[in-house]
Amino acid sequence: MQARARSASPRRSKRTARGRFITFEGGEGTGKSTQTRLLAERLRSQGLEVVTTREPGGSPGAEAIRHVLLSGAAKPLGPMAEALLFAAARADHIDVTILPALSRGAWVISDRFADSTRVYQGSLGNLDPRMIEALERVTVGDTRPDLTLILDLPAEEGLARAAARSGAGADRFEAEDIQFHRTLRDAFRELAEREPARCVLVDAHGAAESVAAAVWDAVGERLLNASQKMEKAG
Ligand code: TYD
Repeated sequence: MQARARSASPRRSKRTARGRFITFEGGEGTGKSTQTRLLAERLRSQGLEVVTTREPGGSPGAEAIRHVLLSGAAKPLGPMAEALLFAAARADHIDVTILPALSRGAWVISDRFADSTRVYQGSLGNLDPRMIEALERVTVGDTRPDLTLILDLPAEEGLARAAARSGAGADRFEAEDIQFHRTLRDAFRELAEREPARCVLVDAHGAAESVAAAVWDAVGERLLNASQKMEKAG
């Protein structure tokens, strides 16, 4: 009951926070966690407080749900149940980690967020888009990202990178076939086209530093104020 009371109000009220909320999205092995780290370092060097986090997870309650999802234990329940679990994890993540940080003026960078549910459970899981929208309305509410960076790489290249990283232990979604990952890439690209005011598609080929430079350009263009831009040039 206590957790429910805690989670009911903040998402319904308008966010008055000064902090900025950035998310990284994309397929497997596109470099989201590396780019999350590099962007956080760069923003901190500008004197900003930055909180990095990830989904599924990012709070103790959500990390417990992460285990259920990525072990494949929830797969037999179907995409609808998985979407509900991702949403439950997200609600806790927002309440415990994201909103408190944004409200004190920190910048929050999340490695995946609600767009992953739209794409993995919505597009790939064939769930009714109205169901996904309804879930987003009740879990995310006003806590929408100010900027979403979608890292784009051919499915084969991303999977090869992910396999090199995790060895034989592919998780629930990495273990899907190549066609799944191709459709995933297309769905993320379509999302970037549909929401150009929030999303920037970033070519994730090449060295981490060159991808980070493209990310930084997008952040500078969309979010940094004039004085911070001058620091950037100097
Ligand atoms: P993770 O180990 O964090 O992998 P990655 O480096 O690819 O982000 O695993 C998260 C997996 O969960 C990933 O395959 C995408 C999937 N996912 C969803 O299906 N729906 C969601 O809402 C989220 C946040 C993640």
